[in-house]
Amino acid sequence: MSLWDRRSFLTVSAGSLAAMKTRHGMAMSTEEDPLGVRGEFPAAENQTFLNTAWVGPIPQVARDAGVAYADETLIWADSRSRLDEKELARAEFAELFGAKPEEVALLFTTADGEAIVVNGLDLEPGDNIVVDALHYTGTFSHLMYLQDHYGIELRVVPHRDGRIQVEDFESHIDARTRLVSVAWVNNRNGFRLDLEKLVALAHAKGTLVYADVVQGLGTCPVNLTELGVDFACAAAHKWLFGGYGVAGFFIREEHLERIRPDRWGHGQVFQTRTPSGWVTGLPAGRFPELEFRHRVNADKYEYSCLAYGAVAQLAASLGLLKQVGLAEIEAHTMPLARELRAGIADLGFSVWTPEGNQAPIVSFVHRQEITELMRQLAEARISVSFREHDRALMRVSVSLFNNRRDVQRLLDFLKPLA
Ligand SMILES: Cc1ncc(COP(=O)(O)O)c(C=O)c1O
Repeated sequence: MSLWDRRSFLTVSAGSLAAMKTRHGMAMSTEEDPLGVRGEFPAAENQTFLNTAWVGPIPQVARDAGVAYADETLIWADSRSRLDEKELARAEFAELFGAKPEEVALLFTTADGEAIVVNGLDLEPGDNIVVDALHYTGTFSHLMYLQDHYGIELRVVPHRDGRIQVEDFESHIDARTRLVSVAWVNNRNGFRLDLEKLVALAHAKGTLVYADVVQGLGTCPVNLTELGVDFACAAAHKWLFGGYGVAGFFIREEHLERIRPDRWGHGQVFQTRTPSGWVTGLPAGRFPELEFRHRVNADKYEYSCLAYGAVAQLAASLGLLKQVGLAEIEAHTMPLARELRAGIADLGFSVWTPEGNQAPIVSFVHRQEITELMRQLAEARISVSFREHDRALMRVSVSLFNNRRDVQRLLDFLKPLA
């Protein structure tokens, strides 16, 4: 499928969800398939998949885009197609999440986004970074390393019964705070913190905010510009359904000069001066005759080649999300998650996800012997995650392709264990 074909295929023509056209024909909104997308997600049919917070299955359109890319590399008929896919993925990400394409870079993982920001701030001993206790474990490993080796202080805002209160950040931020870094929706109990309020507080104190949005983007309408967040990053392999190997990074335009790239490669070179004049890109040449002009937009963080197959998949899956609609996804999954949470609580399990939480993730204490529980879940073909084995947490997540029957299947499975 050419780029133009795919773009036009992914564009919603008009009409209601009930009349939504997918590659598989007219998918009606039914009780079994409220958003008309199950045909795109075979994973939803061969098991009860309640595990997108771990990794989202890719839809057919993304699979087709990945195969088309692989086929192209077999024959190498159109060497520019990978660059077109890159532009398309960046543009789709920017449009869907309220950014300018110049503010978006395609990185490898979520961790890359936070590392670029932290490394680009030129921290000095005595500076501090404020996080909350529910931030991703990988962040702690990075920031504790900086604390131990470079004298950067890590300040941790505690949670209160699984909730992060924005006002609790106030006393942790001071003149040496260089960054507030949070997971907008955390991966442990799915609590979604009030990012807009946090940004207002941090900015009033002169501090920048990085948001790890990997558990949030794709679950509800988001406008990163209006949220006011300075930096954000989300890998494609969860709620963006693009698979592993690429992540969308947002940096507000005003910070582009301040955050210098922390690694270098040919990708940053916009133009090169050769003995015969300025040329685009990086021709083979001899130092010291060359002079470079570097990229100045967010694409300067794309320092080298990307995993273009993954990029093509992401472009396609973002197109699908746009077609389905983030508001529709939110309106479908949030009530389903509330139903799931209430059902689990009614069975008598201790639920860690706060009531009224605005994210499609629920975690609770299952109290079972883990190996046997995993065996039974595998036998029942139900996919969920386990967290914090000492506390025996089960994490369940519902996404656009789940339905009430999926939720009921899990509740039926849990009933004898309660
Ligand atoms: C909140 C959060 N941040 C970061 C990550 C890690 O993402 P990546 O592997 O893309 O760096 C995860 C993975 O589960 C996560 O849930």
